[in-house]
Amino acid sequence: MDPIIKKIKEFKKEDITEYEPYLMLGGGTPGVNLLRGENIYVYDIEGRKYLDCTSQSWALHLGYAHPEINQVIKEQIELSNHFHTGFYTVPRYLLAKKIAEIFPDNMNRVMFTIGGGATIEAALKIAIINRPEAHNFIALYAGYHGTSFMTTGASHPGTMATGKYHGGATLAHFSQNFIRVPGPYYYRPYFEVSNRDDAQEVDRRCLQELEMQIKYGSTGPVAAMVMEPLQASGGQIIFSKNYLKGVKDICKKHNIILIWDCIQTAFGRLGDWSAANHYGISPDIMVLGKSMGSGYPINAVVISDEIEGVKMDGIDLHTFGNNQVSQVAALKQIEIIERDNILGNVRAVGAYLKEELFNLQKDWPQMGDVRAIGFHIGVEFVKDPETREPDYDGCTKMRKTGFKNGIIFGVGGTGEGKAVLKIKPPLITTRDQADEILEKYTKTLEDVFGQ
Ligand SMILES: Cc1ncc(COP(=O)(O)O)c(C=O)c1O
Repeated sequence: MDPIIKKIKEFKKEDITEYEPYLMLGGGTPGVNLLRGENIYVYDIEGRKYLDCTSQSWALHLGYAHPEINQVIKEQIELSNHFHTGFYTVPRYLLAKKIAEIFPDNMNRVMFTIGGGATIEAALKIAIINRPEAHNFIALYAGYHGTSFMTTGASHPGTMATGKYHGGATLAHFSQNFIRVPGPYYYRPYFEVSNRDDAQEVDRRCLQELEMQIKYGSTGPVAAMVMEPLQASGGQIIFSKNYLKGVKDICKKHNIILIWDCIQTAFGRLGDWSAANHYGISPDIMVLGKSMGSGYPINAVVISDEIEGVKMDGIDLHTFGNNQVSQVAALKQIEIIERDNILGNVRAVGAYLKEELFNLQKDWPQMGDVRAIGFHIGVEFVKDPETREPDYDGCTKMRKTGFKNGIIFGVGGTGEGKAVLKIKPPLITTRDQADEILEKYTKTLEDVFGQ
């Protein structure tokens, strides 16, 4: 065994103090010290086992240490791991063609990049290429698109996560050309509505506001609107097809490039290849990332046939934008998803989890709203289901207590804290493992809120 690996395996909790002063942790919700993972489980350095409902920032669709992913990577590193973007390499051709096949018919040209924020910026650059006269962008309240300088302006939770401006907000004024408009947060609309359960009214008001900002609120033409088709970090907020179609129509009418940030939702989390496949609506540009490389870093921009893409002029260039290891991992993952009907698994097991969570909601009024498509699941915790006052503390306790019960939940949402518990396990989660999730979730509810 390599001495570095030996040292990692033998590392003890007490050793951490020696190393801690040297490390800057940039962000994330504090967790435990993890050593290894297998299937949908992870183990900390003391050997404790956890069922991981975060898939590590929703990035491991096939879970941990998938033998076929490991094998293909071993074989690829014997060939190469890094040839620069300018060289014509085979895995990139194979992957671009495969991506064009699985996403909607008109989404056919792919550029590979690295890092979500930078890839959103690449998409914004493509919008500018297509709308050179325009310089403004539109984003949604509660959207999240990364923390690079430019995307900070588009990312609401990055600047408002705890209710006061902090972190990214100190950078946001460098990227003022984002106009944020409300999206339909049906459970908690951003404005007063005559009937809070009237989703159509919420859609209509949001679409009206979008069009008003385009017409009257922008200091010049708008180049692009960037949005997540389902908001993840903002609180697992699902939009209606009616709203998504309305946005597309408005963008088309005003000659605005529509960018869907599919970084969290593509490659199967919804039980479909992407939100565009799921809703039957195609944007002009899709941005991919996270789960794409089965744990290896890779992102991509996919554009529709109707718009112009980048040329080899360096407008968007990344040293590690052509990583063959990530590319073969991405190819293998798509092959496994197709072969093992993983999309079908997500639909079936996701529907089961949703139904069981709805059943639990009847006994636990703290579960204010359950929002789920496939394995994109969120539970919004409230102090009182009538007033819908968010329970940030209750949700945080669910995550903390989950660790004690051997389960890792994510948290999200905007406001003064995070009131939405995220249950987003790897897509290979079986029906039996779903029962294990439900059992641990119920135990955690009991521990936090009492019987
Ligand atoms: C929807 C969405 N867009 C963009 C990003 C940023 O991606 P990255 O962290 O790779 O920069 C994230 C990360 O959580 C995301 O969820």
